[in-house]
Amino acid sequence: MPLPARLGNARRDALSFPRNRRRGIANQGPLPSMPDIRIRDGRPADLAALCEIETRSFAADRLSRRSLRRLIGCPSACLRVAVAEGEIVGYHLVLTRSGSSVARLYSIAVAAADRGRGVGDRLLADAERRARRSGASLLRLEVRPDNSGAIRLYVQHGYAPIGTHPNYYADGADALRYQKTLGQTARRAAGHSIRDGANG
Ligand SMILES: CC(C)(COP(=O)(O)OP(=O)(O)OC[C@H]1O[C@@H](n2cnc3c(N)ncnc32)[C@H](O)[C@@H]1OP(=O)(O)O)[C@@H](O)C(=O)NCCC(=O)NCCS
Repeated sequence: MPLPARLGNARRDALSFPRNRRRGIANQGPLPSMPDIRIRDGRPADLAALCEIETRSFAADRLSRRSLRRLIGCPSACLRVAVAEGEIVGYHLVLTRSGSSVARLYSIAVAAADRGRGVGDRLLADAERRARRSGASLLRLEVRPDNSGAIRLYVQHGYAPIGTHPNYYADGADALRYQKTLGQTARRAAGHSIRDGANG
């Protein structure tokens, strides 16, 4: 399935991240962590919420509703959603290839109103667990050089820069490439789809 270049593609900081809320502004501290986040497999019934997050997170090259629907049922894709108080507040999408030890974090996004509260952190940890369960030992991603918040999230999780991908995005911008070596604790892939296992 043809997918747009991703992870940071044409996103706009102003559109997507309320930095003042996150770090705290005068007389207002940082937002508290979001309690009781549950992460589960995405379902067709989640499509409306996923499309809303796409629209508000990425200015271009969004995943269409049709692509999202197909990805939810695709064995080489793992689309997981974060749910808080019954609402979908974010998602991640990990892609794998049969026989490859490298998985790709294709997308991660949190609803604009819920950023800065640890949802991205939880989603990224979940993406890594899911990649490991599929048998991958490396998780790779691309990010726009100006997406400093996402880069900080990745570096905090132990991702290391491995180069650039020239002219990666639709607007001609290069992508920074990062990867993380995943721990060895998870089951290997044999017989297990990336979507197997309990939620969370
Ligand atoms: C990137 C994104 C997924 C982070 O989600 P989040 O829920 O806000 O992240 P968290 O609250 O879990 O933050 C975890 C860490 O990420 C880093 N971080 C995330 N956003 C940041 C920002 N705008 N500025 C600085 N650091 C940021 C910090 O290191 C933070 O840890 P800290 O609070 O201890 O400093 C979210 O901002 C988002 O959806 N952005 C739009 C879509 C996007 O750009 N996706 C990534 C494409 S590469």
